[in-house]
Formats: sequence, structure tokens, C-alpha cells
Amino acid sequence: MRRAPAKVRSSRVALTANRSGRDEGVENISGAVLSEAGSLVARIADKIGMSVAASRKQAAVSAIRRLMASRGLNHVSSLLDLIDADEDLKEELIDEVTVGETHFFRGPAQFDLVRDTILPELRRSRPMGSPIRIWSLGCASGEEPYSLAILCEEEGLSNIVEIAASDISRKALIDAASAEYGEWSLRNTNECWRHRYFLQSGSRYRLRPDLARRVRLTKVALGADALPAPQSGLADFDLILCRNVLVYLDAAAVRRIARQLFACLVEDGWLMTAPTDPPLWKHAPFETSITSAGVVYRRPISSQEGPADDRC
Ligand SMILES: C[S@@+](CC[C@H](N)C(=O)[O-])C[C@H]1O[C@@H](n2cnc3c(N)ncnc32)[C@H](O)[C@@H]1O
Repeated sequence: MRRAPAKVRSSRVALTANRSGRDEGVENISGAVLSEAGSLVARIADKIGMSVAASRKQAAVSAIRRLMASRGLNHVSSLLDLIDADEDLKEELIDEVTVGETHFFRGPAQFDLVRDTILPELRRSRPMGSPIRIWSLGCASGEEPYSLAILCEEEGLSNIVEIAASDISRKALIDAASAEYGEWSLRNTNECWRHRYFLQSGSRYRLRPDLARRVRLTKVALGADALPAPQSGLADFDLILCRNVLVYLDAAAVRRIARQLFACLVEDGWLMTAPTDPPLWKHAPFETSITSAGVVYRRPISSQEGPADDRC
């Protein structure tokens, strides 16, 4: 029998009880317990290598409910057991819980900053022959890294820029690899660039293959995967864009990721988040600048990689 005032705590207890074969009914998806059990969301998220911001917990519960209903699962414990064995289920959960909204040249002021300030400075400061390395992290269906590829082509830098792009979602990466888009994705892209860089077929636009090939796609679960990962080429970046991702993650993950991103930059390297993302300066010894495009972080020259003091 459930007691109303302590639902979250009792659901945690019930989960343990259920796994040892007792008290099955407490986890029933139709009950109110799941909708209030942030700890269950955290457990499920942890299993799929994610974290979920407090503000997104309710949406995550609805998403988990939908998926359980579509799979005919009545109990959270069945879901938890299945996740380990069923990679497709894990991917479906990731896609239910994440938000993939994006478009080409989203946040135009930030792309202006990249074109007018960051790329010219990197070009001046990097030794001849060494590439400029950019990472789009949480790249969704590819619009962000391909916008960077277009920008570099426009600036005549394609031959010296390497672009990596990563996401936790397999589906997002498959969509990114297809590099084919509809009007909605191109709503911020001028006619001239549409003609220059896309091959139109009806209402679909396919990015020119030579540009698509410039972006290297990899699966990364931010917060769960070890970073930097030099063996996978995920280290020593001159510029990282991690925009509209951290806003969806919980505070502990944001702290950890801030330190990881710091360590993934070369000295003097740049990190851009979106205006709505949580601030990172508290969690790693970044230099911060207020620019026309909002806050931009840099790894100072000769800084230590040691963990920042989270309390300051
Ligand atoms: C709203 S989209 C942002 C896309 C692009 N950066 C932009 O600003 O337009 C967020 C993306 O982050 C990805 N994501 C969420 N959590 C992630 C994690 N822990 N690791 C890697 N990618 C993650 C989602 O799959 C989704 O594709």
C-alpha cells in the first residue's frame, strides 16, 4: 500500500524491493509514483549515459511513459533490465529524452564572431601547416557542423580546418551523415548559399558531398564518456561549439563536462555555448569574454589542467 506524502522516497525503496521479487505494484506505470520519481528518471538516464536537468524531468517521465507503453512494458524494473540487453531500446530512449531542434546558422551572431574574430585569430596564431581543429558537440542532425564547413569554405579555409561533430544519438548521427535537409533547416540560410552549397531535389536539399565529407561524425555521450579522448581524435581543439546541450543536463553533469571541455581545448582555444546554457566559468578556470555574441570561454595560456574548485 502506497503512502502519499513520501512518494519519491518510497518509489526508490520500492524499486529495490521489486528487484528482489516483492511489491511489484509500486512501479506500475499507471501509478502516480513514476511521475514524481526524479530518482527513477536519473537511474534510467544513467543507464543510457545521460543526465536530465531538473526542469526536464517531467518531460523525460512522459517520454519514458510513451516508450514503455509502445513496448508493452508495465514496470520500470522491466525497462531497466531490458536497457542493458537491447541497444535499440537504449537508442529509442535517448531519442525520446533528448531535444534535437537545430538549423543552419542558428545563433547568427555567434557565426559572425567565428568568421570575423575567431577564425582570423586562429589563422594568425597557428603555425603554418598545423590545422585549425573545430568540434561541434551535440551536433544533432548536422546543421551546426555543416554551417561551420560552409563558413570555412566561404573564408577560403577549408584546406586547413578539420571539423569533428558528435552526438549521443545514433539517429541524429545517421541523419547528419545523410546531410539532406528540408526548408525548415535552411530557414536561416540565404538563397545564394542554398544554390552554392546544396543540391536541390523537390523540397529537399542535399549538402554538396565534398563539404559533407569535411565533417567527421562520432558518437559521444557527454558526461558519461571519458574526455579528452586523443585516441579518437577528440582532444586539442582550437574551437568547441557546445550549444543548446548543457541546458538539458543536470548540474552535476554540467560541472564535470565544463572541466572536460576545458581539458579538450588547446591553450588559447575557444569554447562557445548558447545564451540559454548554464554558465561554466565557475567550474573550470576559463577566461571569459563578453562579446557581441554573448559569453565566450577561453582556455588561458599555460593554465593547469587540474580540476577547478566547484565551490568558488
Ligand atoms: C537542441 S540540440 C542542439 C543542436 C545544435 N548544437 C544547435 O545548437 O543547434 C541538442 C543535441 O544534443 C544532444 N545531446 C543531448 N545530451 C547529450 C549528451 N549527453 N552527449 C552528447 N550529445 C547530447 C542531443 O541528442 C541533441 O542532438
